[in-house]
Amino acid sequence: MADRLTVLTGAEGHDLSKLEQYRAAGGYASLEKARGMTPAELIQQISDASLRGRGGAGFPMGRKLSLVPGPDKRSGPSYVVCNADESEPGAFKDREIMRRVPHRLIEGCLIAAYTIQSKNVFIYIRGEYLAEYEVLAAAVEEARAAGLFGDVEILVHRGAGAYICGEESALLDSLEGKRGQPRPRPPFPPVTGLYSGPTLVNNVQTLASVPSILELGVEAYKQLGVASAPGTVVYSLSGNVSRPGNYELPLGTTIRELVFEHGHGVAGGRALKAIIPGGSSVPVFTPDQLDVALDFDSVQAAGSYLGSAAIIVVDDRCCMVQLGLRAEKFYMHESCGKCTPCREGTRWLVQLLQRIEDGHGRQSDLDLLRTVCDRILGKSLCALGDFAVYCVASYVDKFYDEFQRHIDLGGCPFGSHSSIDGIVAPSDQHAHTAMPDPVTA
Ligand SMILES: Cc1cc2nc3c(=O)[nH]c(=O)nc-3n(C[C@H](O)[C@H](O)[C@H](O)COP(=O)(O)O)c2cc1C
Ligand code: SF4
Repeated sequence: MADRLTVLTGAEGHDLSKLEQYRAAGGYASLEKARGMTPAELIQQISDASLRGRGGAGFPMGRKLSLVPGPDKRSGPSYVVCNADESEPGAFKDREIMRRVPHRLIEGCLIAAYTIQSKNVFIYIRGEYLAEYEVLAAAVEEARAAGLFGDVEILVHRGAGAYICGEESALLDSLEGKRGQPRPRPPFPPVTGLYSGPTLVNNVQTLASVPSILELGVEAYKQLGVASAPGTVVYSLSGNVSRPGNYELPLGTTIRELVFEHGHGVAGGRALKAIIPGGSSVPVFTPDQLDVALDFDSVQAAGSYLGSAAIIVVDDRCCMVQLGLRAEKFYMHESCGKCTPCREGTRWLVQLLQRIEDGHGRQSDLDLLRTVCDRILGKSLCALGDFAVYCVASYVDKFYDEFQRHIDLGGCPFGSHSSIDGIVAPSDQHAHTAMPDPVTA
């Protein structure tokens, strides 16, 4: 198993947050190797390794690097920004990487900086990750004191707890000291990013994967994972599962292997009802899809997204209306309000779902739910609006009978017996209960 790891390699039994131990395990050798190559050679290696972004969209890092104009084609500084905001419900891989192998992330950031000839690295870390911040900040100080930075500066910036600041353009506004809201695009960050300079934005795990490409060599790296997405990914497994946790495995591991071999199956031996394959924002899978391979293209071909590789297991006691309501309250609260379909639509979805769950749903509400989803999908400024729709629309489509039963019974068939409490953190503390009800008419 250990030889299949790349990001968390060596963390078992060693404290790799300490520079000495990280170096003893071969750490920073890839940085040295990188600095002995030309930036163009490095970009070629990362492109040849087909490293795809682990932050959600699976965009090839090599292509992003090649979009950043070189020093001779730009007038000011360029930037590397590491997205460590990790706020997707169900996702908790980046925090483990930062806590256990912070130097591997720092090494990846320094290689990326060398690749685009940048002297400025920012790591934007989720505000709630205080322990991870402290470990990472200490590792940054150690690496700086050891002279590993050269002429590069790394600054770790703590966010203030907004999910939307994980969206790359909102993150850049937030870093600039503005309110974190998405920017209209184009232009995209590689051309016009932080302080209007060319900016490479990559996820923690993407950057922490770079050293192993140089260490193993492209061909050996490509032996891991699948042809369209080589390497490993840290799957965050949660929900009604016996052994929740982070599992670093080759991309393309099937849901069945992850849940039943590594996760030891559904908790309490219950029946499986659903699997959410990429964090709360993606369309849900049903048990007949257990053999879908968990890589970007296979999950998409099966009708969902790998997203942040947060796999959420749902057992047969869970009420899908309650689950949709929980997700939707989160998206409503986190909507930044900049565009109307998302700002208003998420509120409508919460109120419709609440009405159905409370037993006051009307037959027409099921069509209205779909109509509201349709009014948001593809019509919002950033993907948060789509996220808010993907989950709920798929619950209605795949569990229509359960929604119907709420209407027929005039209440929830699961009530307080639902297993919802074992699935993603509750967001009730965020509910805007005092809002007027736009749906009641
Ligand atoms: C609402 C929203 C939240 C996001 N949150 C994160 C996040 O917490 N971490 C992350 O890496 N990417 C997040 N993303 C994706 C980023 O916009 C961006 O695609 C990513 O940081 C690029 O890195 P990668 O190419 O290495 O995946 C989010 C996107 C959206 C629309
Ligand atoms: S889709 Fe939502 S989060 Fe994104 S810009 Fe519009 S209001 Fe803000």
